[in-house]
Amino acid sequence: MQEVNKISEDNSEEVVISLRDVHKHYQMGETTVKALRGSSLEVKKGEFISVQGPSGSGKSTLMNMIGCLDTPTSGTVILEDWNIAELGESDLAQLRGKKIGFIFQTFNLINNLTAIENVALPMLFQKKSYEERMKRAKKLLEDVGLGERLQHKPAELSGGQRQRVAIARALSNDPDVLLADEPTGNLDTETGKKVLKKMEELHEEKGKTIVMVTHDPKAADYAERIVNIKDGVVQ
Ligand SMILES: Nc1ncnc2c1ncn2[C@@H]1O[C@H](COP(=O)(O)OP(=O)(O)OP(=O)(O)O)[C@@H](O)[C@H]1O
Ligand SMILES: [Mg+2]
Repeated sequence: MQEVNKISEDNSEEVVISLRDVHKHYQMGETTVKALRGSSLEVKKGEFISVQGPSGSGKSTLMNMIGCLDTPTSGTVILEDWNIAELGESDLAQLRGKKIGFIFQTFNLINNLTAIENVALPMLFQKKSYEERMKRAKKLLEDVGLGERLQHKPAELSGGQRQRVAIARALSNDPDVLLADEPTGNLDTETGKKVLKKMEELHEEKGKTIVMVTHDPKAADYAERIVNIKDGVVQ
């Protein structure tokens, strides 16, 4: 009996993020835009998921919910053991900063900071010393092949290099979960492939949980599970 119990325990996969019946409405003057209309999704530890759906179907809104960047109009978002609706903004920011790394299509790098400063920045909010931050940022940039570009500002880097800085930054607090919204959208095929290879490596070698939005069928091949979204509803 005990054996059986043990096996079922080993097989039970840990849920990192759970969305239950999430609605997100945006009020635009007189009209209400219903970006999400009752979406539910469970992301298990170590999964690599690709989110697909037409433009305007709610993919980025869904990512904002998964990443606890925004709160739902109704429904529940659970990050590990925390119901995010019950957390204050500063606790939520701390939790998000530690647990989740974001990679956006538009990179979202800070233009007047160098590559190394951009990567070191999220660690500032996790109370690491200056030396520690710089040492780790340097290592992360070396890992994505940018050891020679530490002092370059975003405008002095190519698109693919900027995206790699964004990946290094997303990894700065060693998050369990990486959220990538069209990470290859602005890149040529070759550079896009390198970025995807890096994501695959992070998943396979470091066991990171990855949720990636993509239009690119080749990019979706890297994922283990495809989640479709249509008209604000996860199918
Ligand atoms: N801040 C906002 N205010 C008002 N409406 C918004 C806002 N953000 C998104 N929307 C609307 O919500 C819907 C879903 O948007 P979302 O950005 O999630 O789509 P998407 O699937 O990511 O599309 P794309 O593939 O074009 O990036 C769209 O109709 C969009 O116009
Ligand atoms: Mg989008």
